[in-house]
Amino acid sequence: MDKPELDSHPSPIAPSAGRDRARPGIDADGRQDALWIEVIRKMDETYADLVRYQVELEEKNSALEAAHQFISSVLASMTDVLIVCDIKGRIEEVNPALETLTGLPEESLIGRPFQALLTRECLELASGFAEKIRNDAVHDCELTLRAAREEVPLAVNCTSRYDARGRLVGMVLIGRPVGELRRAYEALNQAHYELKQAQRQLISAEKMASLGRLVAGVAHELNNPISFVYGNVHAMGRYRKRLRTYCDAVDASDPPESLKALKAELRIERLLDDLDPLIRGTLEGAERVRDVVQDLRRFSSGQQGERSRFDLVHVVETAIHWVTKGKHPAVRVELELPERLEILGHAGQIHQVVMNLVQNALDALEEVAQPEIRIRLDVLQAARSGPPVVRLTVDDNGPGIAEADLLRVFDPFFTTKPVGQGTGLGLSISYGIVTDHGGRLRAENRADGGARLIMELPA
Ligand SMILES: Nc1ncnc2c1ncn2[C@@H]1O[C@H](COP(=O)(O)OP(=O)(O)O)[C@@H](O)[C@H]1O
Ligand SMILES: [Mg+2]
Repeated sequence: MDKPELDSHPSPIAPSAGRDRARPGIDADGRQDALWIEVIRKMDETYADLVRYQVELEEKNSALEAAHQFISSVLASMTDVLIVCDIKGRIEEVNPALETLTGLPEESLIGRPFQALLTRECLELASGFAEKIRNDAVHDCELTLRAAREEVPLAVNCTSRYDARGRLVGMVLIGRPVGELRRAYEALNQAHYELKQAQRQLISAEKMASLGRLVAGVAHELNNPISFVYGNVHAMGRYRKRLRTYCDAVDASDPPESLKALKAELRIERLLDDLDPLIRGTLEGAERVRDVVQDLRRFSSGQQGERSRFDLVHVVETAIHWVTKGKHPAVRVELELPERLEILGHAGQIHQVVMNLVQNALDALEEVAQPEIRIRLDVLQAARSGPPVVRLTVDDNGPGIAEADLLRVFDPFFTTKPVGQGTGLGLSISYGIVTDHGGRLRAENRADGGARLIMELPA
């Protein structure tokens, strides 16, 4: 504002008026002039004040604008959701993060109750906020926002808001979208689980490897003595026959009385009769030891020879036939097998696995009134676009496996069978074979009783 020319102010009284008056008139004129000067000075001061106020106002205005700009930029860069409400929960202010999430412009959000943005399940929880914040803030309360595309879980903090005079006028909600966080947490959890699983497998593989070396040594040491026991027992069988022939001949030639008496005293007749079952028993024992040694060698030998394509259905059928042949005529065996299913691997080893599984099922059914085995073979498409998997399931209606033993059954030498009946090597050997084929072998209990053994192999 320009400062006006003071001198150009027109005088309220004509300048010539009273010039010719007497003294008293001159005094009055002087007072009036002084009055005028005073008025003009005051006006001048007032005007200067006005100019100063104007400048101050302009400064304040630009500071206010800068503050507004600052707050807007902070609100805009917040990734958390901000909702400012009055005490009844009507929205007064939101930030762009909420507009983006809900897909609604600020104008249509203002004035609505904030609860309208939430899913029905959290309404009750959110309605308690107004009461709660009178005493304390709300921390990390999980609410679900009905966002534009999907529901978004938010971890919400809610605090009270006061006016300049300290009266409670509303509340401020800040929500952090936790969906991403939760997904990351789940992925982490899964990775951790897989790591633990891999670690367990590694430990088990290491255990198996050292056991394998030990067992190979033991089997080697046992093999020699057992083969000569086996051979000798066969020879003893033959010698027994010759002795019998000789004794019969002596008896027939009417021997002297002294010889007859000696024969009776030494009970040669009974001895010769006993020799046969004795030798047969020894042979059976030797055979059993030989089988165990064979199992042990197989357990420790691992992979041998080339892999080839073979028909798994045929292998499964013959394995079942061998095991069930002539035994347990009462066991009902139900098969669900496809026509043909070719896989790559060692047919002989897979044959052995199937035999082990079916033999175990038969063993478990010994005291069951209506024993049943169900064997199924399917091809599964793996979940994560991996290669398809062949799954063989062997179910029985026996007593099942104790929960605590579900993992132990694959340990070498773990058996619940009486001594002489179980070596505890069947499942352990099978486990080795199946993992060498890149598959998995596991045991579980069926919901309606009985055990289920599952072999999965890459198709
Ligand atoms: N179908 C099944 N039902 C119940 N228990 C089973 C079954 N299959 C295996 N088991 C348990 O697993 C143990 C180990 O089996 P395995 O390794 O074949 O050795 P073994 O048959 O010589 O005992 C068995 O002793 C038994 O306790
Ligand atoms: Mg067995």
